[in-house]
Amino acid sequence: MKAFVEQVIFHNDSLASYPDRFEWIGQGRSAVVFKCKETNRVVKVFYPSCQAIAEVEADVYQRISKHDLFPEVYEAGEGYLVIEYVTGRTLYDCLVEGIPITEDMIHEVDRALQFVRSLGLNPSDTHLKNIMLTEDGRIKVIDVARFTQEEECPQWEDLKKAYYMYYQRRYFPKKYPRLFIECVIQLYRKRLLPI
Ligand SMILES: Nc1ncnc2c1ncn2[C@@H]1O[C@H](COP(=O)(O)OP(=O)(O)O)[C@@H](O)[C@H]1O
Ligand SMILES: [Mg+2]
Repeated sequence: MKAFVEQVIFHNDSLASYPDRFEWIGQGRSAVVFKCKETNRVVKVFYPSCQAIAEVEADVYQRISKHDLFPEVYEAGEGYLVIEYVTGRTLYDCLVEGIPITEDMIHEVDRALQFVRSLGLNPSDTHLKNIMLTEDGRIKVIDVARFTQEEECPQWEDLKKAYYMYYQRRYFPKKYPRLFIECVIQLYRKRLLPI
C-alpha cells in the first residue's frame, strides 16, 4: 500500500492528486480517506501537518478494533492507516438524506463509548461525521485518534440532548439541507445554541 500512498500529493494541506487505484470517499480535519478500488479497504492518508496523528490513531485502533462497533485496522504506515471499508453512510448523511436515526442507534453509540471507557480511554470527537450506519443497519464509530486526549469532550452528550429534545419530536423534520446542518454546526461551535 505504501507505494500507492506515496502517489497521494498534497500542496500544503490540500489534496492535489492521487492514484487511479484510489477513489476519494471523504475527508475531515486531519486526513483524506480513499477506497482502494476492488477491495473492501480504505486508506486514511493524513495531511502533511497531521502526520503524527497516524501513529496515535493506529495505537487506539489496535486496542479497540476487534470490537464489533469499530472497523478493523489492517495496516499502519507512516502517515497513513489501512482500515476496513464501512459500507454505508455517516449519521450526517442520514440527516441529509432523511434516513431516520433511531433510539437503538443512539444506544449502540453509547455501548461503543462505554467499551472505550472501560479500557481507560476517553471517547472524544464523536459527532455526526464520525459515526456510520452500515447498509445492514449496524453502527460503526470511526476516527478514534482523539480518544487519547485528557480533556472532556461534550459533543456526543450534546448530540444526544439535541436528539431527545428536538429530533425525536413527532413533527420535527428528519431531513435537512447540508447548508442548514453546517450552519447549526457553526452555531454550536460558537456556543450559540440552547443546548
Ligand atoms: N472506514 C471507513 N469506511 C467508510 N468511510 C469512511 C471510513 N473512514 C472514514 N470514512 C469517511 O471519510 C470521512 C473522513 O474520515 P475521518 O476518519 O473522520 O477523518 P478525519 O480524522 O480527518 O476527520 C468520514 O467522515 C467518512 O465519511
Ligand atoms: Mg472525522
